[in-house]
Amino acid sequence: MKPIETIMRTAPVIPVLVIEEIDHAVPIAEALVAGGLRVLEVTLRTTCGLEAIAAMKQVDGAIVGAGTVTNPEQLHRAVEAGSEFIVSPGLTTDLGQAAIQSGVPFLPGVATAGDIMRGMDLGLEHFKFFPAETSGGLPALKALSGPFGGLKFCPTGGIRQETAPDWLAFDPVLCVGGSWLVGQKDFASGKIDGEAITARARDAAAIA
Ligand code: 3PG
Repeated sequence: MKPIETIMRTAPVIPVLVIEEIDHAVPIAEALVAGGLRVLEVTLRTTCGLEAIAAMKQVDGAIVGAGTVTNPEQLHRAVEAGSEFIVSPGLTTDLGQAAIQSGVPFLPGVATAGDIMRGMDLGLEHFKFFPAETSGGLPALKALSGPFGGLKFCPTGGIRQETAPDWLAFDPVLCVGGSWLVGQKDFASGKIDGEAITARARDAAAIA
């Protein structure tokens, strides 16, 4: 099994995290891991994204990767920060080649047959289907999986606790990604509501 597949099979849901304050990083990781979600995608959309990856990696059991990686330079910075996998919203040949050369497990975003074929040209077999709901949802992924049997997917984008089971019931889907596990409401009191995050993570981890 390729390393990216092992990561995708670790838990049914990969939380997509936007960490605005570095102090939030460790409590959020601890709360998610306590609920059974060990694979954490930290997006590089905030200034403390890389620092958050390095901090969250110290949490026992956490497998921390970088998301929203869009070019080779970001990929190299994310790997230097200790990212254990890389997720991108789309796939360019430059980024794909850089990921393969670095050897880091890589999950590039695809939404069309052309995207998938570009990935297959690079030898890739594991993809993020993104943005999943607005790219046609599960019927679109089922249609794409016809000509491209054997590929494995992590649909992300618009997926929630209620809809995740339908996606996960489709064989090529090894896990789904989503941002519903952690939100602004969890910081409203000025401190992280770890119990609420852990409860959501537990529900997500229990999806068969
Ligand atoms: C991502 O970057 O993967 C998406 O922003 C996650 O999509 P969601 O917020 O709809 O879960």
